Amino acid sequence: MKPLIPSDLHARPEHERFAPKLMFFGDPHGDFDPVIAAVERFQPEAIVLLGDIQARRPLQIELQSILSLTEVYWIHGNHDTDGDLDYQNLFESDLADRSLHCRIVSVAGYQVAGLGGIFRSKIWDPRRPIDEAAFQSSDAMRRTMKSHERWRDGISRKHRSSIFPDEYQRLLRSGPADILVAHEAPSAHPHGWKAIDELAVKLGVQLVVHGHHHRSVDYVGEGLMPAAAPFRAFGVDTGSHLTWPRDEPGPGGPPQDVLDLATQVFGAAAQAWLDKPHELLDGQTPATLAVGGGADRVRSMLIAIQHGGVV
Ligand SMILES: [Fe+2]
Repeated sequence: MKPLIPSDLHARPEHERFAPKLMFFGDPHGDFDPVIAAVERFQPEAIVLLGDIQARRPLQIELQSILSLTEVYWIHGNHDTDGDLDYQNLFESDLADRSLHCRIVSVAGYQVAGLGGIFRSKIWDPRRPIDEAAFQSSDAMRRTMKSHERWRDGISRKHRSSIFPDEYQRLLRSGPADILVAHEAPSAHPHGWKAIDELAVKLGVQLVVHGHHHRSVDYVGEGLMPAAAPFRAFGVDTGSHLTWPRDEPGPGGPPQDVLDLATQVFGAAAQAWLDKPHELLDGQTPATLAVGGGADRVRSMLIAIQHGGVV
């Protein structure tokens, strides 16, 4: 994040203070309130939903209020083929052409590659050689099925969220790209895959962002990947988001987590609270204290207020 100078904070609307180019959202599972709230707050150029979207109504209706504010892109997750409605409200919505699956699209100035779905061993376990996969393509699978076994004259609905070798290889050959979004995680996650790492390296991306595992994690920041790794990787929890470029704290600004916590507690009045001298802080403002090494004290105050304390 660009450093926020306290005197600026009242003067400029929030979206002018920090307007990320891109925001990535963890698996919505039918709840779009966090997506809508974050887009209204930050007004990014574009957003990417990281799968398991499970829209209860067609996606363009769920996201109607933000379609004029940002460009919406998505990849699918394993749960997006759970039921007919999960499938229809996504793959047959007016936003169907915003799928990034198996292609590279210019999004907010970045070349973004997408790999939706999950690896299923009945199709392809990528720990095994690719030519040992049960099926190389969905079409190859379809040809083995009797007509009454098919769903809409194709493979089963479930396997429409399985990753087939031909799709993976097609994307592998489509680089270069700047960012890879995948539902599956890279190998730094305990249930992640080297195939995602290899795809990221072949595409030459600097960033991998994934959903599926319902945990927000900065793999380099948490020591799960070396800083010298060829790409940075982040997981994004359901109900959460990642902004890009990263809103790292700059010199002169309070840490981002303090700003986020203040927003959680005070909403639109967060900056006013941060800028107001506080008697418990010997007349300093929380913002000044947070910048000057007292961020823990400000966090404690915010947490106390959040839990009903009077501070
Ligand atoms: Fe998932």
